[in-house]
Amino acid sequence: MKRVMSRREAMKTAGIAAGGMALGGIAEGWALSAESSAASTIGASIKDHAGARGILYGAATEHGKLENDPQFAQLFAEQCALLVPEGELKWRTLRPTPETFNFAPADALYNFTKQHQMKFRGHVLIAHDPYPGWFEGYINSSNAKKLMTDHIRGVAGHYAGKMQSWDVVNEVIYPQDNRSDGLRNSAWVRYIGPDYLEMAFHTAAEMDPSALLVWNENWLEEDSEGGDAKRKFFLQQVKPLLKRNVPIQAVGLQAHLVAGHPGIAGPRFQAFLQEVGDLGLKIIVSELDVRDGSLPADFSPRDQKVAELYTQFLSAVLPHKSVVAVLTWGLSNRYTWLTKFSPRSDQLPVRGLPFDDVMKPTATYAAMIKAFDAAPPR
Ligand code: XIL
Repeated sequence: MKRVMSRREAMKTAGIAAGGMALGGIAEGWALSAESSAASTIGASIKDHAGARGILYGAATEHGKLENDPQFAQLFAEQCALLVPEGELKWRTLRPTPETFNFAPADALYNFTKQHQMKFRGHVLIAHDPYPGWFEGYINSSNAKKLMTDHIRGVAGHYAGKMQSWDVVNEVIYPQDNRSDGLRNSAWVRYIGPDYLEMAFHTAAEMDPSALLVWNENWLEEDSEGGDAKRKFFLQQVKPLLKRNVPIQAVGLQAHLVAGHPGIAGPRFQAFLQEVGDLGLKIIVSELDVRDGSLPADFSPRDQKVAELYTQFLSAVLPHKSVVAVLTWGLSNRYTWLTKFSPRSDQLPVRGLPFDDVMKPTATYAAMIKAFDAAPPR
């Protein structure tokens, strides 16, 4: 993958003296309009504002997007200090057969991070989906342990020393499956048992002692019975594991926020964050975005509401010094998984990320900068 130009180089090529333009946009179609609601706060990237408080800001993306869209690649390199592959490290892509690994797509992303002095984050070693076609008919109770540990050895070993953090497990708690321990009834639980969790963390630590090892979860931030159950079962699971020195080092809060849900980031969530920090765990906001399907079609009021949700969430989370990184699940609305996963009924673009579909900063961008500026340093 080619290195994209630095901002200074791009300015030179575009005939603009460095420092001669107050705003960040360079490529055509990306120049920031004066009337942009966020324009008054632009001056540096989100990563710089987060970095000034000791927090890493980054985003998820796919290698094809960076390769085929130089405007996007440039924005990504300017705004992010951390990159997480959206799908390249999932079994479906990484494991074409039970014996082989296809590292090329994720390696392309790793190379991009090297070219742009970014950190790289791994998502995810052991999840409940998506798996390649061979998986379901292959796994059984006699080979499951070896299948899991061989996978972790192969993948965490390949990237040893290169990862800022690894999601070792993902979406583990799922009270809807009605197990008394709150665990999702995944193939790993069925064929190995709940011990798969500690096995996975131990194997990852053995292979890559320098990566922060994360337990990534969804819906922990909701003020709802569902949120209460997730938080309760998470703590119930994690405490005895930590007592036995299982190397769980951080919790990932996915934070796929939903506009119109009754509440997020309330006092019960705050108490949870405190407890997580007191246990010695770091916190990563791992997949922040907003589903805006219930919001008005008009961009301006819609963006305002989306930005308010970011403010509400970040102002609850960032005061906790255990929070070391914040990632959005995508950077520009041109490429958000929500276009497919949670499309608007009016077919308009979903606007849940800091940059819109023409790479202009939205009100969310300004809200993020403001939230990072207000955060205590760590
Ligand atoms: C999503 C990707 O963004 C999509 O492209 C893919 O089709 C489905 O998965 N929580 C997670 C991520 O942990 O792996 C999911 O990523 C989004 C929800």
